[in-house]
Amino acid sequence: MDKIIKFKTISSTNDYIKEHYVQLEDGTIVLSEEQTKGRGRSDHQWISQPGNLYMSRLKKTNLNQDSFFAELIQVSMSVVSLLHNHGIVATIKYPNDILVSGQKICGILIEGKWSQSIEYLISGIGINVNQLEFHELNKKATSINKLLGVKQDLKKLFDEFWTIYRNCDFNYESYIENSMIIGKQITHENQKYNVVGIDKQGFLLLENNETKLKVRINEISLEEIYHEINN
Ligand code: BTN
Repeated sequence: MDKIIKFKTISSTNDYIKEHYVQLEDGTIVLSEEQTKGRGRSDHQWISQPGNLYMSRLKKTNLNQDSFFAELIQVSMSVVSLLHNHGIVATIKYPNDILVSGQKICGILIEGKWSQSIEYLISGIGINVNQLEFHELNKKATSINKLLGVKQDLKKLFDEFWTIYRNCDFNYESYIENSMIIGKQITHENQKYNVVGIDKQGFLLLENNETKLKVRINEISLEEIYHEINN
C-alpha cells in the first residue's frame, strides 16, 4: 500500500515531493486540502481552493526513457475512468488536460529529475470536484459537482482514483482512442501537417503528402490545435 501524507494547506504537493524525494518511499502520495502555490504546465498558476483534489505521487523505481509518457497514460486514463464511473464522458487534451464537453475538469503535471537516467517522476493531479464558481474561467472550466449537481465526498473519490490507478493497466491504445489531438491539423515551420499519432516517448507524429515528422510538444503551437475548443 502506498504511503499517504496529508496536509490541510501546503504550497504545492509537487514541490513538497521535489524537496523531500530522497527520504520519501517510492509510491508516496501527497494530498492537500488546498495549495498556496499550486502550479500547472509552463509555470501557470493552479488556483487551489478547498473542495477539490490536489495530489501528487512519487515514482522512484523501474524508470526508463518511456516512463514519463507511460505515467502520463496511466494518470490520464485513470482520471477518464474515474469520471466514466460517475457517468461523465471525458476526453484527453494532450499533454495535460482532461476535458468534459470542452471544459477543463482536471490538470496533470508530470515532472522529473534527469541525470544519467531518470531519478524520479512526480505525477501531480488536480481534479475539480466541488468547485462551482470559476469566475472568468466559468466557460472554460467545470467540476464533478457542477456536472452532476451533487456535492462529492473527496475522501471516497481519492480512494477510488488510486484504486483505479493501482489496479488498471491502461495501454497506449486506450490513451490514443481517448485523445482529441489525433486528426487535428497544425502548422510546423510553415507547412501544414495532420497529427497522426503520439509515439511511446510522447513525441507527436505528423504527416502531410510529402513528409513524416516527429516533434516535441513544445515545438508546436497548442493554441492552433485546440483553437476551436478554447473559443
Ligand atoms: C495543468 O493543467 O497545467 C496542470 C495542473 C496540475 C495541478 C496539480 S494540483 C496537484 C499538483 N500540485 C501542483 O502544484 N500542481 C499539480
